[in-house]
Amino acid sequence: MHPYIKANKDRFLNELIELLKIPSISADSAYAGDVKRAADMVALRLKEAGIPTVEVVETPGHPVVFGEKIIDPNLPTVMVYGHYDVQPPDPVELWDSPPFEPVIKKTDIHPDGAIFARGACDDKGQMYMHVKALELLNNNNELPCNVKLMIEGEEEVGSANLAWFLENHREKLDCDIILISDTGIIDNETPSICVGLRGLSYVEVEVTGPNRDLHSGLYGGAAPNPLNLLSKMVASLQDEKGRITVKGFYDDVEVLSTEMREELGRAPFDEEAFKKSIGINGVIGEAEYSVPERMSIRPTLDVNGMWGGYTGEGAKTVIPSKAYAKISMRLVPFQNPDKITDLFVKHFESIAPEGVTVKVTPHHGGVPYVAPTDTPAYQAASDAMESAYGKKPVPVRSGGSIPIVALFEEKLGAKSILMGFGLNSDAIHSPNEHYGLFNYFIGIETIAKFYPNFVERHQSNAQ
Ligand code: BES
Ligand code: MN
Ligand code: MN
Repeated sequence: MHPYIKANKDRFLNELIELLKIPSISADSAYAGDVKRAADMVALRLKEAGIPTVEVVETPGHPVVFGEKIIDPNLPTVMVYGHYDVQPPDPVELWDSPPFEPVIKKTDIHPDGAIFARGACDDKGQMYMHVKALELLNNNNELPCNVKLMIEGEEEVGSANLAWFLENHREKLDCDIILISDTGIIDNETPSICVGLRGLSYVEVEVTGPNRDLHSGLYGGAAPNPLNLLSKMVASLQDEKGRITVKGFYDDVEVLSTEMREELGRAPFDEEAFKKSIGINGVIGEAEYSVPERMSIRPTLDVNGMWGGYTGEGAKTVIPSKAYAKISMRLVPFQNPDKITDLFVKHFESIAPEGVTVKVTPHHGGVPYVAPTDTPAYQAASDAMESAYGKKPVPVRSGGSIPIVALFEEKLGAKSILMGFGLNSDAIHSPNEHYGLFNYFIGIETIAKFYPNFVERHQSNAQ
């Protein structure tokens, strides 16, 4: 471990604990004050870390923390992106300790301990590694280039106002590369760098039958039941081979070369351990693709929630008037979220059986992202990881989404390096989210190594 990290270990951890105590839940307006408090704390810590210009920029939603240190306009600029907002902790009763009262516990996967709290891994813990890496570089007079930071408070609700921020503050966002830690590695012995994110199309459907809830005895048998019919419609969205039946859905899906599939297939995967880790006795999906491929380079369609009728205690005999479902589709290159949403709406309307009407409301979407590996920035990240872990990282495409990354490329013309350190078992978005202390400290070290590597490779590439 770097001597500076070793000497400041406890403080680095305690500062993160303080940040994790703030319930910065962006989805719930009742927490808007806490979201603001988290932004203020991040801003203060950035100043303390030696970033001279730091602003908490108000937006129509939650604020963006923007910081910069320009040491020489002729040097390259790294922009750090992260988010200080978190997912709601629900269901709170499934947490072993309260989500905003961080505790450190040892686990089988994290024998050195992990910090348990909402946001520990996604993304406060990972974002804060950057603040500490910059403190390290500043304090040792080793910051080799310009740095900007854009830490937002609305990632978990679709980053709508960050898009607004990109357009309204375009002039101060010029950079050569964006550096992000909001993804994962394979495991603590197998470093990896994320080279792809899936896109997203998210819709809500409403199926309406009779004009009011009906007695299921008096009307049952002839009155169309929207819950029965919605279930059928949803079930028909995938065929028995695991293919999505929405017409045109696969038209733009990227066909990967055998070489590419081989390269990505080098990441180790243990199917039995995978099944055990989530408590299932079998996997589903397209037989012609490996299980990791089904979760990364192939698109999906999943119901996230479905409701209607009577769901309270006991039994109530009723044919509901309405039934609802929230449906997410994860997209891969070169699918376009708007086009997919349109195809979904058309398809869903076309399969509505007689007796019901359907309404589809689109929610947020996101364009998929692929990062090249033959760039100075990727090589710099790869070298940094190799020197921290003693092993060369493997490139991996992730199944998750960070929609703003594709927008960075579109609006700023900048590529992103997705150098995250979380583990899939860290339970992000779930009860008992945690982040390994090993991951936290090695992350700080790796990020600090990235900067000189990047500047060196960037300069020699420019010559
Ligand atoms: N950090 C995650 C995304 C992620 C996690 C990508 C692990 C790759 C590996 C991010 O905070 C997230 O949760 N994104 C959402 C999308 C967003 C629009 C709510 C997602 O993927 O569901
Ligand atoms: Mn995240
Ligand atoms: Mn998240």
